[in-house]
Amino acid sequence: ATVTFISFDGEKHEVPFVEGQNLMQVAIDNGVSGIDGDCGGDAACGTCHVTVDQQWIAATGSRTPAEEQMLEMNPDCQETSRLSCQIALGAEHDGLIVNLPEFQF
Ligand code: FES
Repeated sequence: ATVTFISFDGEKHEVPFVEGQNLMQVAIDNGVSGIDGDCGGDAACGTCHVTVDQQWIAATGSRTPAEEQMLEMNPDCQETSRLSCQIALGAEHDGLIVNLPEFQF
């Protein structure tokens, strides 16, 4: 299964994942720039911010309370913003597309 990260300048990185990984880890493992994951996946740093492609909003579910709090502090947060460490990947996410925000570079 794969997920695609699209950088703010339009560059696509399609990378493989295994079920059970979170989206931040997949980005780090594959050297996707724009995702730092400084807190290791605790929804505490906000450096794994992505915006989810409209088609994938339902499949990725909703924000966790801790995630919501982090995102609220970011003035550039959008309706579709998520912390990628809080998205646990399963078979239903094959083909997932997320965008990387410009502010994270
Ligand atoms: Fe720190 Fe996601 S890795 S908030």
